[in-house]
Amino acid sequence: MSIVDRADFPLLASNAELHYLDSAATSQKPRAVLDAMMHYYTHDNANPHRGAYALSARATERYHEARERVARFVGVGDAARLIFTRGTTESLNLVAAAWGRANVRAGDEIVVTGLEHHANFVPWQQLAREVGATLRVCAVTSDGRVDLEQLAAMVGERTKVVAFNHISNALGTINPVGEISAIARRVGAVVVCDGAQAAPHLPLDIDALDVDFYAFSGHKMLGPMGSGVLVGKRALLEAMPPYQTGGDMIEYVMEERSTWNVLPHKFEAGTPNVADAIGLAAACEYLDGIGMAAVRAHEVALTALATSRLSEIPEVRIYGPGPALRSGVVSFTVGEIHPHDLATILDEVGVCIRAGHHCAQPLMRRLNVPATARASFYVYNTEADVDALVSGVERAREIFGS
Ligand SMILES: Cc1ncc(COP(=O)(O)O)c(C=O)c1O
Repeated sequence: MSIVDRADFPLLASNAELHYLDSAATSQKPRAVLDAMMHYYTHDNANPHRGAYALSARATERYHEARERVARFVGVGDAARLIFTRGTTESLNLVAAAWGRANVRAGDEIVVTGLEHHANFVPWQQLAREVGATLRVCAVTSDGRVDLEQLAAMVGERTKVVAFNHISNALGTINPVGEISAIARRVGAVVVCDGAQAAPHLPLDIDALDVDFYAFSGHKMLGPMGSGVLVGKRALLEAMPPYQTGGDMIEYVMEERSTWNVLPHKFEAGTPNVADAIGLAAACEYLDGIGMAAVRAHEVALTALATSRLSEIPEVRIYGPGPALRSGVVSFTVGEIHPHDLATILDEVGVCIRAGHHCAQPLMRRLNVPATARASFYVYNTEADVDALVSGVERAREIFGS
């Protein structure tokens, strides 16, 4: 059963036979999002914050409303703490570069987990190399959870930051944000949470989470590509230097120095991406129309069905934790069939899955596999997509004689 009308999604509506199971990479877009962006460009487009004329004031107002709408969706009361970025990658680079360079010193330690996407790994690795700090990587248990005992032992006086994802894109593990934050708080470390896979799929109340920075991408939650968010604690955002400099983010520019604009503008240098912010706000509106509890329940049901049907197939191995700790992601291998070959066979029957290291090479090494196949579910998927996935996997086994 579907919880949305497939006709709401123009790409899916015009590809009736397509089984899109790669929403963890990017989601499809409802017409409401495309229309909102088109409406902006057709009726309200001007450079915001700059013009003294009514059209520019309207563009500014639309941008402001979009920020308020997205903040409400993710449970952020003070919308000035919500910075629009190009996506999770840019949000995390912003934190590592702007906060990190100002606060992490030689001899300090940065702790990440073995479950991280490269976007929450490489910026910290590079910061550590630059300032002479040490990057420490917390182990992952054999069922794909952060090893909390090791984390507690690893986080110590020298730890300046603990960075981890809310949900793993590679395995679907839902991490215990509160427990991980509590470990970090014991030593006063800053808590950075990568919510790229959580904001689209779980009811979210960022103000209630004990985190200092929270990042997510618009394109994985029905919004446009090139839209993303960083939410930060006000005191930290105000104290840290800007990430990029130029127009819009300044207060005064003297010949020898400059002062910075207030939040959120201090971190939004240059002409903002107004249309995509409006598209993201429309995506939040659409998701709220369904209800995030219903989104989660739908994904739980499809994931349970997929894991149980796939595990009936000989030689299928599923990675990651049990259903209570798993989002709408099923990561698996089938005997000796390479995940890329599997994805190619599935593509022939219209089933789109991802195959590879899922931008998580350290995790793949830990699991001792070069790659996995990953099916990921979202609001527009149904049991028919699970059927197509299962019969595609069976077909691949016949072809490869597995
Ligand atoms: C957990 C996680 N973090 C970060 C990212 C990077 O997101 P983006 O490419 O939208 O910047 C992704 C994207 O797949 C992700 O799944």
